[in-house]
Amino acid sequence: MFTTLSTPSAPPIYGLPTGDLFEAIETLKTELNAVILAHYYQDPDIQDVADYIGDSLGLSRQAAATRADVIVFAGVHFMAETAKILNPDKQVLLPDLNAGCSLADSCPPEAFAAFKAAHPDHLVMSYINCTAAIKAMSDIICTSANAVSLVQQLPADQKIIFAPDQNLGRYVMQQTGRDLVLWQGSCIVHETFSEKKLVQLQIAHPEAEIIAHPECEAVVLRHADFIGSTTALLSYAQQSSKPEFIVVTEPGIIHQMQKQAPGKMFIPAPPTAACACNECPHMRLNTLEKLYLAMKTRQPEITLDPSLQRQALKPIQRMLEMTA
Ligand code: 13P
Ligand code: SF4
Repeated sequence: MFTTLSTPSAPPIYGLPTGDLFEAIETLKTELNAVILAHYYQDPDIQDVADYIGDSLGLSRQAAATRADVIVFAGVHFMAETAKILNPDKQVLLPDLNAGCSLADSCPPEAFAAFKAAHPDHLVMSYINCTAAIKAMSDIICTSANAVSLVQQLPADQKIIFAPDQNLGRYVMQQTGRDLVLWQGSCIVHETFSEKKLVQLQIAHPEAEIIAHPECEAVVLRHADFIGSTTALLSYAQQSSKPEFIVVTEPGIIHQMQKQAPGKMFIPAPPTAACACNECPHMRLNTLEKLYLAMKTRQPEITLDPSLQRQALKPIQRMLEMTA
């Protein structure tokens, strides 16, 4: 028996269960032997139904280790694609196939191939926020959690291209003292934070610590008390003795911060414009309803050319082997 859900502003969605959506998803999870992996930038209700919530490194590790037959990926396309690269024989579902990433889009394969050809003696380290085609052209993948450590593990005289995020690349250069050749890509969400508004917020909350993601611009990062991946920001907020934090990343993570550090205050850093553009428009395309429908219909499914999958797997495996 199917029903519809409708609000005055949204068109009806056909195919939803008559009963509780959370229970219906749990039932499908058992029927499919599925696992739901979610990123912290997803809506709170998606986070609440997930089996695992994490940063890109944690999600990759979970995808590599899962015994489930079906991986339901509540995140963006490059994340689900990474899960498929790691699991070519499993079905990987993404609730909305249009959930892309501005950073991945900022590095088209043809242009990157030419960039790589212009630096023939360089190793290519690519941030996981890129397409399978870019991964296939890379020697090693990194995430915001391990980029500094991976560069430090490479020989001091090794020349390195870092793509596609120039802000993370600059942060890695500053932390390691290494000179990287940077692809000039960026994330529309992390570039939206206003240094001026951040400083004003800091003056209004003098006790608060500023915690920021390394995809932010250097002018914003220089005000941060702590910089790290989403999981590292969450752990820092839990362990710090401070009761207040200004969070300079996508505000979806505040749901977990409030759950895991109750009693503390989390203030989302404001964007430059008077808009909600600190919310990732790609991540937010996924909804609980779309997640249910993806499991019910077993689509949209991530598919990959087998030879591209094999090429893209090598640098991901290298990352996992080199990460403690
Ligand atoms: P992490 O969760 O790996 O820190 O990455 C943040 C991000 O922008 C994902 O798109
Ligand atoms: Fe891509 Fe930025 Fe959205 Fe992350 S927050 S998925 S890097 S656009």
